[in-house]
Amino acid sequence: MSSDTSIEGGTPVLELNGLSKSFGGLHAVRGVTLKIMPGDRKAIIGPNGAGKTTLFNLITGIFPSSSGQVLLFGRDVTTWQSHQRTALGMARTFQITSLFPKLTVLDNVLLAIQGLRPSKFVMWRFMSSYRDVYDKAHQLLEQAAFLDRKDTEVRYLSHGEQRQLEIVLGLASDPKVLLLDEPAAGLSSGESVEMAHFLMRLDPKLAILLIEHDMDVVFDVAREISVLHFGEVLETGTPDQIKKSQKVQEIYLGTG
Ligand SMILES: Nc1ncnc2c1ncn2[C@@H]1O[C@H](COP(=O)(O)OP(=O)(O)O)[C@@H](O)[C@H]1O
Ligand SMILES: [Mg+2]
Repeated sequence: MSSDTSIEGGTPVLELNGLSKSFGGLHAVRGVTLKIMPGDRKAIIGPNGAGKTTLFNLITGIFPSSSGQVLLFGRDVTTWQSHQRTALGMARTFQITSLFPKLTVLDNVLLAIQGLRPSKFVMWRFMSSYRDVYDKAHQLLEQAAFLDRKDTEVRYLSHGEQRQLEIVLGLASDPKVLLLDEPAAGLSSGESVEMAHFLMRLDPKLAILLIEHDMDVVFDVAREISVLHFGEVLETGTPDQIKKSQKVQEIYLGTG
């Protein structure tokens, strides 16, 4: 994996510098600083109301930040809109489902590939035949271990599989960094385990920032975890360090 890292020449895929957001007098996110390198698997955890979704919205460009910076591949994208960040290599999934339930898994992926941003779409039209688009869909499904269900109509997939497929669609734009806001929300514990396994199988070169309430998913997927509390990063460490952290136990379990 160290050879993959050298491709990017040491430039972080994503960097947050003192990122903050206030809603009136409420400081929802306060001075968050974070660096994500190619292939990193990081997570931000925190109790409800900690500011996780707000932080996600700042990174993806849904909300303007009050202060601080967002850098993507070393470029300051703090004032860029969401679709511009996507075009540069950032992908996210949406809470509102983007799946077509009566189409097959394969057709959903084909549509995601063809429905890309204008610049990419033009490129595809110019240089690719249907065969290329099909091959690309095949490759995405293979990588995500979904090939066995390619001809299944999406409505017959389980809820957990549908949530995984949404992530596969997010990969159609060839992102270098994938942002996930609570991918295990609303899943049963069994489905959460499957989601974690699904995420662990994704391309090791892809950087993932996971924003999650479910600790089990985070401990499986992330190699580094930051704990957000009242909008601030309280602690950063390996899953083992975070598991043992007194502060984290106090926040989550109300002990101590
Ligand atoms: N659009 C908004 N306007 C005003 N306050 C908001 C808005 N979005 C979130 N908040 C507030 O910011 C704080 C953090 O919320 P949120 O980011 O949703 O936390 P989390 O995702 O960790 O549960 C909460 O106090 C919430 O009420
Ligand atoms: Mg949230």
